[in-house]
Amino acid sequence: QKGGHKHFMIKEIFEQPKVISDCLAGRIDLEKGEVVLSEIADLEPPERLHIIACGTSYHAGLWGKYLIEKWAEIPVEVEIASEFRYRDPLLSKGGVALAISQSGETADTLAGIKLVKQKGLPIIGLCNVVGSSVARESSHVVYTQAGPEISVASTKAMCSQLTALLLLALYWGKKKGVIDVATYSRAVMDLRNIPSILEAELPAMRDKAQELSREFSEAYSFFFLGRGMYFPLALEGALKLKEISYIHAEGYASGEMKHGPIALIDPKFPTFAMALNDELFSKVKSNLVEVQARGGEIIALTNPGVDLEVEHRWNLPEVWGPLNTFIALPALQLFAYETADYLGKDVDQPRNLAKSVTVE
Ligand code: F6R
Repeated sequence: QKGGHKHFMIKEIFEQPKVISDCLAGRIDLEKGEVVLSEIADLEPPERLHIIACGTSYHAGLWGKYLIEKWAEIPVEVEIASEFRYRDPLLSKGGVALAISQSGETADTLAGIKLVKQKGLPIIGLCNVVGSSVARESSHVVYTQAGPEISVASTKAMCSQLTALLLLALYWGKKKGVIDVATYSRAVMDLRNIPSILEAELPAMRDKAQELSREFSEAYSFFFLGRGMYFPLALEGALKLKEISYIHAEGYASGEMKHGPIALIDPKFPTFAMALNDELFSKVKSNLVEVQARGGEIIALTNPGVDLEVEHRWNLPEVWGPLNTFIALPALQLFAYETADYLGKDVDQPRNLAKSVTVE
């Protein structure tokens, strides 16, 4: 069942290359080099998109916002479903909602969908479980095709959600004619190479995660920092670590550090930084220098050749633009996994948590 792995979580982390290929299957027309999302072909690109989700799926939504706004020029609002459902959200005509849920059974997300339906807006369910409540209640369904996820901590499902969101951004960007041609074709072409790059890299990433987990297993608290599209990833890295290892962790936008959180930094409060080679790198770097000046230790996910001096550098192969996310996400998952396993925690069944949250 676990395919020779000790836990479902590690099996599912290692399945991610296949998860990306499966999510792309039938959605990229190889001849034309085009994204095809027949599930939503009858919907016009929305004037405004309302994303609702919980937990890890919410983090996926926050990430999706960057690309959908950038490539499709659609304003996106991302909201935690348990907040959305008790507000009186402004859902005007021309808007579309997108509910993201692995299980398709999350009570708050379902309540959000019902609210959207009452207001008469189309709703796209982005979910993994075929025939689930989210799939049944939504007017349109895009399946993530990740296969069953057993481990309570979500890993491969998020990877598939990100893949689908990226496709959505490309699809709407093209349909509206606003994405530039070079970006579109580069994304479509390079996305198809990600599974093999990730497959080759995962064993070494696991070794690195194991090495770091031994060094940091006694930490009481961690910051996870990132900017731009790595901010949602920082939130996710912190969530993964806290839910399975029970080490306190907070995800922050790097630029927020000086507005309060940096007061916590001392030699015993490490920071896990997303310092990949993008246009915001120099900003992240200066935030990290400030952490170091307060004696804080740093683990940094970065790329070869990047000018950064930190105690624990974790180099990942560099791919094109936003696709670096698909390499960085498993690194965060592996760090949480190896830490929890080293501490002897029940990785697949963390205390107090359930796989489907069917009550609010
Ligand atoms: C964290 C985790 C949860 C879920 C959340 C939403 O690892 O698994 O935060 O992401 O409960 O679940 P779905 O996506 O099934 O609606």
